[in-house]
Amino acid sequence: MKLKITMMSALFTVVAFVFSGVASAKDLRLGLIVPGSHAWTVAAAAMGDELKARSGGNYSITTFPSGQLGSEARMLQQLQTGALDMAFMTTAEITNRIPDFGALYAPYLVRNVAQAGKLLNGRVAQGMLEKLPAEAGVVGLGYGIAGMRLMLNAFPADSAESINGRKMRITPFAPVLDFYQLLGAAATPMPLTDVYDALANGQVDGVDADMELVWKLKLYERGSTLVRSNHMMFPVVGLISGRLWSQLNEEDRALIAEVTKIHLNKLFEQYTDIEAQMLENVQGAGVKVVQAEPEFFGDSLDQWEAIWLKKAPVLADLRREAAGVQ
Ligand code: BEZ
Repeated sequence: MKLKITMMSALFTVVAFVFSGVASAKDLRLGLIVPGSHAWTVAAAAMGDELKARSGGNYSITTFPSGQLGSEARMLQQLQTGALDMAFMTTAEITNRIPDFGALYAPYLVRNVAQAGKLLNGRVAQGMLEKLPAEAGVVGLGYGIAGMRLMLNAFPADSAESINGRKMRITPFAPVLDFYQLLGAAATPMPLTDVYDALANGQVDGVDADMELVWKLKLYERGSTLVRSNHMMFPVVGLISGRLWSQLNEEDRALIAEVTKIHLNKLFEQYTDIEAQMLENVQGAGVKVVQAEPEFFGDSLDQWEAIWLKKAPVLADLRREAAGVQ
């Protein structure tokens, strides 16, 4: 009788252990608008592998690239309701909700992706993440980066005047809209997915993009001149649903935050190489490259600054910090 009870209790313990393991294992759904081949998606997948290994299988990640879950605006709503667990999202979309994030797009705030890494891990940018739970219903776990912004144009572009009156594709958000309107361009907001066709059919004359997109979206097939201005950085932020976060214990929060930050931060190193490689590819494809420095844009940069110091007062602080970044 005693043996029977001991065996039953052992069996019960095993069953309880197995079920508790199943109950706590969670596959986190992570959305992105960039394609599967993009460095952000590759980083998210590597993050999933590390999270799975370090959590003993309790957490895994399934990525949904190419806007499968909708636009970034839509994904942000899903994060708020808890329908989506995580996203690697442009801070452009966050700027649409919290204008202070527009400060990150100040022209020539940094000169390259390595400097962007230092600034985004600095006091001001990290402090901005603290606004996210209250103002957007999400928790910001860290920043990464895409390539510096430039233009691929289907017209000879050798001065700011040549951009005046041109239809320029922009990411749909205010800082870049202002930047192109100040240059006299007809800024045309458009998601990434529509850019190739728009350039091909003449809906736009040029595109605000980065070196990776010019190559991977094959924009170079439709544009003759690349203005290598590196005029803005383009951060990505790792987000987790505020609802999900509130249900996690401290240990799991710390692990997810650490692993997310590690993989987003790797992008700062990777993009130095990605930009160099993609430039070589694009030049090899016969595109003319025009190097542009801040002077290229004339007064428009000061005008942009004046507008955004009002819209995003944190810009003053960010500029001060950026001045010390080498
Ligand atoms: C863009 O809208 O240009 C963009 C979006 C996501 C990643 C990189 C660029």
